[in-house]
Amino acid sequence: MATTNGRKQQTQKKSSNTSGNSRTSQQKNSSQNNRGQSKKINAPANTKSKQTTSEEQGQSKQQKISTINKIVETDEMQSILERSEKYLTSGYPVHFTGAAGVGKTTLSFQLARRFNQPVTLLNGNESLSNTDLLGGRIGYTSDKLIDNYVRKVYKREDQITERWSTGRLLEAVKNGHTLIYDEFTRSLPSTNNLFLSVLEEGILPLYGTQRNESFITVHPNFKAIFTSNPEEYAGVHKSQDALLDRMITIPVEDPNKEAQVSILTERASISEKEAETIIKALDWAKSTSRENDTHVPSFRLAVMTAMLSSEHEVKIDVKNDDFQQLFFDVMGHYFLENIQGEDVSEAQKRMKEELKKV
Ligand SMILES: Nc1ncnc2c1ncn2[C@@H]1O[C@H](COP(=O)(O)OP(=O)(O)O)[C@@H](O)[C@H]1O
Ligand SMILES: [Mg+2]
Repeated sequence: MATTNGRKQQTQKKSSNTSGNSRTSQQKNSSQNNRGQSKKINAPANTKSKQTTSEEQGQSKQQKISTINKIVETDEMQSILERSEKYLTSGYPVHFTGAAGVGKTTLSFQLARRFNQPVTLLNGNESLSNTDLLGGRIGYTSDKLIDNYVRKVYKREDQITERWSTGRLLEAVKNGHTLIYDEFTRSLPSTNNLFLSVLEEGILPLYGTQRNESFITVHPNFKAIFTSNPEEYAGVHKSQDALLDRMITIPVEDPNKEAQVSILTERASISEKEAETIIKALDWAKSTSRENDTHVPSFRLAVMTAMLSSEHEVKIDVKNDDFQQLFFDVMGHYFLENIQGEDVSEAQKRMKEELKKV
């Protein structure tokens, strides 16, 4: 049983299906078979539940946290997943929005796993074009044959063939994939406009592809999951609003402290105490950034610190020099933002002293 303590000092990767599984095989089977209909947590066979350890039962406010393939699912996450699964099944796209590092991409993949179909990933960026999404001419291949065998005769034959690619959206829409469009607001509105008719009319117009048909019909299994960070598009791409009107937007927030600790223990196979140390160090870095009115480091950096400490056997202790160094390396640019004007090595010395006190 993978009790909370049982995970302490654990260095080996856990076999995903052997420990800590408090579900009966019947439950497991039913949750797998009922995917998409069940109101219960849809947990595959390798789900572990932390719910039943005697230690944790003692804590009255203990929330239910399960892990699936090293992904920790809190009550809040499960609720979002279940609601989103319903909306997608009914044909409505969902959109996870929240600050960097709160877990939007992780949540999107967890959600996509619930549908037994291929997943297409798109990452929003300014240079994403209609050709990337729909496909188009990507160049030519040419074959040259030069016959110069007889000196005075020079014969040349050119054969030029157009090369075409199929765009990723076209592929996904045609074959009924689950599309994850991560950070979609980073793309230009002109590119994202293609999604308007996909989401509203269920067709994909094939502008500029020189194909015979002018549009294709969206496959009934096609599902779309979007993510965005509101800080990045506030007021920038106003015309995304039309798109936002066609999807169900669910705000995602930082996992709570308990979940953060679970995520670190699970991801990096470290003890709860070690995870707490990292979270406290992150909180300290966050408050320092807030005081200085600079960018605030995200939870992702805590995951990085935990993974690196675990992999390189750095003792997770704020008094340990190696840990301090690792922490400041991971916090790199946040650290630099916070020491404006000060000598870097002096500032680091001072901040290491502060870190020791957390
Ligand atoms: N529920 C979770 N279980 C395990 N790891 C998680 C969970 N949520 C977030 N993480 C980890 O936290 C970091 C940030 O998550 P990510 O999904 O990339 O956030 P976002 O997309 O909001 O920026 C990643 O390293 C991710 O693997
Ligand atoms: Mg992300």
